[in-house]
Amino acid sequence: MDKSHGRTEVLLNEKKLYKPSAKVLKNVRVRQYKAMTAKAVKNPKKYWEQAAEELEWYKKWHTVLDDSHKPFYKWFTGAECNIVHNALDRHMGTPIEKKTAIIWENDAGQRRKLTYRELNKEVCKMANGLKNLKVRKGDRVAIYMQNTPEIAIAMLACAKIGAVHSVVYAGYSSHALRERIDDQAAKVLITSDVGFRSGKVIDMKSLCDEAVQGSPSIQHVIVHRRSDTPCKMKMNRDTYWDALVDSQPAKCETVPVDAEHPLFILYTSGTTAKPKGIVHVHGGYMVGINRTLQWVFDIRENDVYWCTADPGWITGHSYIVYAPLINGMTTLMFEGVPIYPKPDKIWQVVQKYKVNILYTAPTLIRTLIKFGDKWPNKHNLSSLRLLGSVGEPINPEAWRWYHRVIGKKKCPVMDTWWQTETGMFMITPLPSMPLKAGSATLPFPGIQATVLDEKGKEVPPGKGGYLVIKNPWPSMLRTVFRNEKRYLHTYWEKFPGYYETGDLARIDKDGYFWIQGRSDDVLSIAGHRIGNAEIESALVSHKAVSEAGVIGKPHPIKGQTAKAFVILKQGYKPSDKLINELKIHLRKTVGPVAVTDEIEFVDKLPKTRSGKIMRRVLKAQELGEDAGDTSALAD
Ligand code: PRX
Repeated sequence: MDKSHGRTEVLLNEKKLYKPSAKVLKNVRVRQYKAMTAKAVKNPKKYWEQAAEELEWYKKWHTVLDDSHKPFYKWFTGAECNIVHNALDRHMGTPIEKKTAIIWENDAGQRRKLTYRELNKEVCKMANGLKNLKVRKGDRVAIYMQNTPEIAIAMLACAKIGAVHSVVYAGYSSHALRERIDDQAAKVLITSDVGFRSGKVIDMKSLCDEAVQGSPSIQHVIVHRRSDTPCKMKMNRDTYWDALVDSQPAKCETVPVDAEHPLFILYTSGTTAKPKGIVHVHGGYMVGINRTLQWVFDIRENDVYWCTADPGWITGHSYIVYAPLINGMTTLMFEGVPIYPKPDKIWQVVQKYKVNILYTAPTLIRTLIKFGDKWPNKHNLSSLRLLGSVGEPINPEAWRWYHRVIGKKKCPVMDTWWQTETGMFMITPLPSMPLKAGSATLPFPGIQATVLDEKGKEVPPGKGGYLVIKNPWPSMLRTVFRNEKRYLHTYWEKFPGYYETGDLARIDKDGYFWIQGRSDDVLSIAGHRIGNAEIESALVSHKAVSEAGVIGKPHPIKGQTAKAFVILKQGYKPSDKLINELKIHLRKTVGPVAVTDEIEFVDKLPKTRSGKIMRRVLKAQELGEDAGDTSALAD
């Protein structure tokens, strides 16, 4: 028992109940973890080189890690590869070719299965279609689609020809989509005519039309048809997916690219109103996600694996699409809401497909707890072998429920801490380790993490501080797209020599990490990352709003929720009608994720002398906490 932090943390030893596979045991048996980690720390190049050798390359690297221009690190320099070769090509002609690659189901109960051979064929056809539209190596292709096999096909087709994909989560507004298209100067946008969610039909094409209207970069819009009603198509710009692809040959050579060639740009929120285009590359990314998936989820040959994230987020990129396919797994894509139409939809799906590994988010777990045990108890969940959690800190109560009611105390819970920027799991248990409810446990072998105080000194066990990473890793972000200054400033300046994660954490006396949330002005609402400044800037773009300050508040289900304090322009009066109007405006300008639960009209906001809103003071006032140092306050 660890009582060092005022809370009893039960040390759960899963060893007796869970039998890790020989592969995991060989590499990461508990007593070997320390030795393995020490080896990786002593010779990280050798450790990652061995990981790279498990994949196929067209040409081998001459240097494992080039740190001559740090923090612009390069991995496996001199090598040529393509992630699609590892995810698809190399499986052809092996027994995996006939295996199911993707199972898809939506909430209307429609389903599809694609074998690796079928998926490869579709990817080849789409890649040829893109080439027909003159998409070339390095060109950016924006993808705005829901969780269907086509989103994976579109991503893989881009990667296959060396184009750079940029998936924009389909819950974002047309305005947010346009902002991302402009930032990367995307040449093509791939979308669908409509989307489906909780029984509603979403007009995706109209949203896209709005987004690309007058776009200086978009030359083509490819529309995947999901309804029988034709949508408005613009001549010479829009083409239906089937019209583009059906006549294409089913073979397409994968283009060898430099290991450091960009694979995708994924936008994520930061502390300013403008999202950051995080750049990941083919070589190092595939090495990192491959090793972490294998070791952390202890994958086995016939596993059915379900990650409930959306492909529009990094979790979907790394652990729905790329890493499972590289490993020849069957990955389940569920295009629905796990609690719709009833709270046991998720358990129905687990039972139906005999899911072995379930990877989800604490916000969903807390929602499911609210509905009660009777819903999971109606279903046979005995296929489950391992559970995962990601996106935000999982509170010990939710962890225990997940472990007891869903995992029947025999499935270890892998609480994986990582970020869009890290590409792969960073602090995470391995299934052969003792677990503590609510802790992401220990750094993955090869990762060195620590906690620093404000001055950059490591803090003693039990004390909170800034979570940083001490060493480079292969799947790290390479830069912020066309913004090296922001890359340096955001991640490397506060603590020179360390990667600053933006999170707060503490390490207990056993070396286990407890993530405490963000240290910067970034919110995590139901596991979705959004910047306070993004919401403020959207509010201020409304004609009635003069100034806005947004803070995060604890929320029992969503983890966090946003509250906005708004100063109105002269001539506008506070009213419920205006609150509603502002909420609709937020939905339109950013997307549903930005809709604040509370909006309060105020006459004044606490500001520094230079006019910066002090969110810290607002938050302390709201939560009845001590505001700390207020000497910078103007008034
Ligand atoms: O605050 C941490 C939280 O999510 C942030 C990263 O968000 P994003 O880039 O959108 O990626 C989410 C999926 C990887 C982190 O800075 N976070 C993620 N996983 C955990 C977490 N917080 C606590 N525990 C986790 N397991």
